[in-house]
Amino acid sequence: MAFDESLINDVLKHADIVKVVSAYLPVIRKGKDYLAKCPFHDDTNPSMHISPELQIFKCFVCGTSGNAIGFVRKYEKLSFREAVKKVAEICDYHDPRLEDIHETKVVDPKRVPLVKCLHDLTVYYQYALNSPEGKAGLDYFNNRHLDADLRSKFRLGYAFKDGKATCRFLEEKGHSLKTIEDVGIASSNSGTYSDRNAGRVIFPIMDANGEVVGYSARRLGNGPEAKYVNSPETYLFHKSNILYNYNNAKEKARIAGYVYVLEGFMDVYALYRIGVESCVATMGTALTAEHIRLLRSLNVEIRLCLDGDLPGQKATMEIANNLVNNGLSVRIVDNQNSTKDPDEILNEDGAVALNAYLNKLISRVDFILNYYKNTNPLQTTEQKTQLIQEFIPVLLAIRSQIELDSYINKLANITGFAPEAIRNILKTARKKPQNTDFRDMIREYHPERKVLRRLEFAERELLYQMLQNREAVAFYEQKIGGFYDETYRIIANYLIEYAKEQKDFVPVDLISSLENSDLPEKDELINKISELYLERNHPDICNEELLNNLQQVIDTEKEKIFESDTLNQSLEGKDPMEQARIVADYNRRRLRKKH
Ligand code: CTP
Ligand code: MN
Repeated sequence: MAFDESLINDVLKHADIVKVVSAYLPVIRKGKDYLAKCPFHDDTNPSMHISPELQIFKCFVCGTSGNAIGFVRKYEKLSFREAVKKVAEICDYHDPRLEDIHETKVVDPKRVPLVKCLHDLTVYYQYALNSPEGKAGLDYFNNRHLDADLRSKFRLGYAFKDGKATCRFLEEKGHSLKTIEDVGIASSNSGTYSDRNAGRVIFPIMDANGEVVGYSARRLGNGPEAKYVNSPETYLFHKSNILYNYNNAKEKARIAGYVYVLEGFMDVYALYRIGVESCVATMGTALTAEHIRLLRSLNVEIRLCLDGDLPGQKATMEIANNLVNNGLSVRIVDNQNSTKDPDEILNEDGAVALNAYLNKLISRVDFILNYYKNTNPLQTTEQKTQLIQEFIPVLLAIRSQIELDSYINKLANITGFAPEAIRNILKTARKKPQNTDFRDMIREYHPERKVLRRLEFAERELLYQMLQNREAVAFYEQKIGGFYDETYRIIANYLIEYAKEQKDFVPVDLISSLENSDLPEKDELINKISELYLERNHPDICNEELLNNLQQVIDTEKEKIFESDTLNQSLEGKDPMEQARIVADYNRRRLRKKH
């Protein structure tokens, strides 16, 4: 349902598109506009332009465009109403009318029985932990300093050794065997259903909303069996999409301004034990696009804290690069002199030591420098040149001159090269042309636009003028029998209606009116309109002469198309002799018309 236009306009009046986009992505200034890496396709260069003047954004690669509300709607996959509310929040605009808007959670009927089953099972595991058999699990947790508070906060439990009894319990609770199989807890391979976690302590894994979607089950001691049994991939559980403790961290991070990214849930508990609750764990997997999406939406500094052993350092480097390439701000816990994980540091060296460790943060560039220094032999000139070569892209990406100087000096120290020599290498690398001019970008990504046919060009020009002037709209209505291009035609018709309703044309209002409509093709129209608004090679003055010229081009080009269409139709199914006669006749008529 479309809703209160005046509320939308009030929100947009108080909104700033740059501020809104910046809440999700890093943006850089470029002249009057801002640039960002487009989140709507796999972007490597910043191709999304944000115009504070027009209050719209547009990606010149994938075409996605719109106003502040449209950005949030697409980025967060919200309904229009929710997006309006979110924009107001970001821009600190308060309005009682917004309070009536509530998140309408879409219920996925396939999830419901699975979530219910896992809920009952989690409660059962918690109950088992406090039973006589569960004493072994309780002792294990106590040994690892996981007290009652932590156990209940993270819903830790124990799985009875009798795995069949667990499945029977679930059946008695009304869960079908299919559901029991679908949550990944047991399968019927052996004919009977038995809990795969039997005899282990249980770490429930919650999704971003705090619902249990799977488990990690640890053996009690140091036996030969696998340390952890994880739920298999199910409809609910995708291990590589989960950041452990994200459901809590998303609240805490906003207050803290940072989030620690750790390796395992034991590390999460260690941080909780010293009062640092803004932390998540990857559960030992590589960082995925979904992880990055989750982290990005926290909009805080990422503090990477992985193991200090060599594989851990390699992973740190890869993950840090990945995060930076995706525009997140990262610092790294300097782990290069430590092989212990946070859990071990806390237990062996105490809270003060862990606190100090977590606060020893270094930049990614420093981390990489140290890493190379520690792992690569740097004796020969070749090895040193190699190091510098590897570093060029890192240095090129640094914007602050002070920072750059400091790294060049460090690199000079390590390699023994003069800072000037390194600067020269950088200069050469920089000379590679990097063209980010507005118009050039359009041409680069849409080479076909160079060969715009006369007709399309004229229609485009007229439509551009119609977006700015009601006179042009009136002209179109009276003199042009409709655009040839279908999208242009729809926009033109929309403009005619819009011109009747509105006193004046304001670009953002037109887009927001489309945003607020139920037109099925609204996204396409918004994209096209934003594209036109952002074009800058149009005549400034829209006068009679311009409009008449455009009309003439449109009329004659349309006529040509019409004629050649008719010609082609009349040629269909005719023998070659007859076809030749028709074509000759056609050419004669055209010649006559010209004179
Ligand atoms: N992990 C896993 N399966 C394994 C080992 C590890 O799924 N066989 C995941 C777990 O999510 C774990 C994380 O990787 O939390 C980190 O692994 P590791 O550092 O080995 O686990 P710790 O948390 O240190 O566990 P513990 O202290 O109990 O050995
Ligand atoms: Mn550990």
